[in-house]
Amino acid sequence: MTIDTIDINTIIHNYRPEKRFTLAILQDIQNKFNFIPKEAIFIISDYLKVPASDIYSMATFYKALSLKPKGRHIIKVCNGTACHIRGSNTLINELTDLLNIKPGETTADGLFSVEIVNCLGACALAPVMVVDDKYFGAMTKDKVIEVINEYKEAVENGK
Ligand code: FES
Repeated sequence: MTIDTIDINTIIHNYRPEKRFTLAILQDIQNKFNFIPKEAIFIISDYLKVPASDIYSMATFYKALSLKPKGRHIIKVCNGTACHIRGSNTLINELTDLLNIKPGETTADGLFSVEIVNCLGACALAPVMVVDDKYFGAMTKDKVIEVINEYKEAVENGK
């Protein structure tokens, strides 16, 4: 992804140059790019007169922020106890094989990131996978393939 510093500047100028807006700016940048580009840290630092190291620390502290590019769709596979007992490991293997990435990584086309989480609060539906905010329960290997294909087709159709 090419980072447009004009976009970064537009976002930061929605806020007054005060330190208390650091997190809000970082969140807006995360929403725009799906991660915090390195360039953004220096631009924010310059604008807010806050050391770049402080902004970097904040960007690494908050789970909602990421310094690595994330995919357009974030897939979370639960590996909590209920899901584990019902075969979440098989799903994780199927998914990572299918997308050719490891947990925590993003596909080369930038479409998917995969994260393994501990409990998605829907144990009755175990094993559970969530794509963005949509829950998929009672997952099987075949369903994983179906869901991924659904999202790929949606992108191909411009959705
Ligand atoms: S253990 Fe998977 S949703 Fe709770």
